[in-house]
Amino acid sequence: MAKPKIVTASAEHIEAVAAIEKDAHMTPWRLESFRRELTNPDGLFFVACHEGKVIGYALAWVIVDEAHIVNVAVEAEHRGEGTGRALVALLLEETRKRGATCATLEVREGNEAAIGLYRSFGFEEAGLRKRYYEGIANAVIMWLHEIPA
Ligand SMILES: CC(C)(COP(=O)(O)OP(=O)(O)OC[C@H]1O[C@@H](n2cnc3c(N)ncnc32)[C@H](O)[C@@H]1OP(=O)(O)O)[C@@H](O)C(=O)NCCC(=O)NCCS
Repeated sequence: MAKPKIVTASAEHIEAVAAIEKDAHMTPWRLESFRRELTNPDGLFFVACHEGKVIGYALAWVIVDEAHIVNVAVEAEHRGEGTGRALVALLLEETRKRGATCATLEVREGNEAAIGLYRSFGFEEAGLRKRYYEGIANAVIMWLHEIPA
């Protein structure tokens, strides 16, 4: 597949993002939550597009000097093509430009694809939040102590 084009999300992308979200997560964000992120001054929200269609997205918040990666997903049929990596790389680069020096996130325990992706950027497991998801599944807390230049 040709490299996806990554752009800042806008209103026209939101329905496609919410549709991917429904398939990707057991407790999906609602469309309204994504819409709010379009105007979050502390947020970064990117979509990856292939042939004019949204195939993935990634969001982060910059809180003082920390980047919080809050949501990343790629449409199932386009996984394994490098889109997740491209989205996370851009998030880290852009959060660093906004003053973040380190990055953190939570990921469902056992989500090997996501944990593998974050590890490949240097994120390390730093603890567990017990029953974080739906009061059942644990979240692994991961940290990247220094976002590389
Ligand atoms: C996690 C996710 C975003 C990865 O996106 P992707 O576009 O498939 O990832 P990429 O093709 O860019 O892969 C990048 C790296 O991730 C890791 N990875 C991807 N899929 C993997 C898998 N099935 N098992 C283990 N590692 C995997 C690898 O390190 C890979 O690097 P490599 O190709 O050099 O081996 C995607 O699987 C997804 O949308 N999952 C559902 C939503 C989700 O879990 N989001 C994360 C919430 S924190």
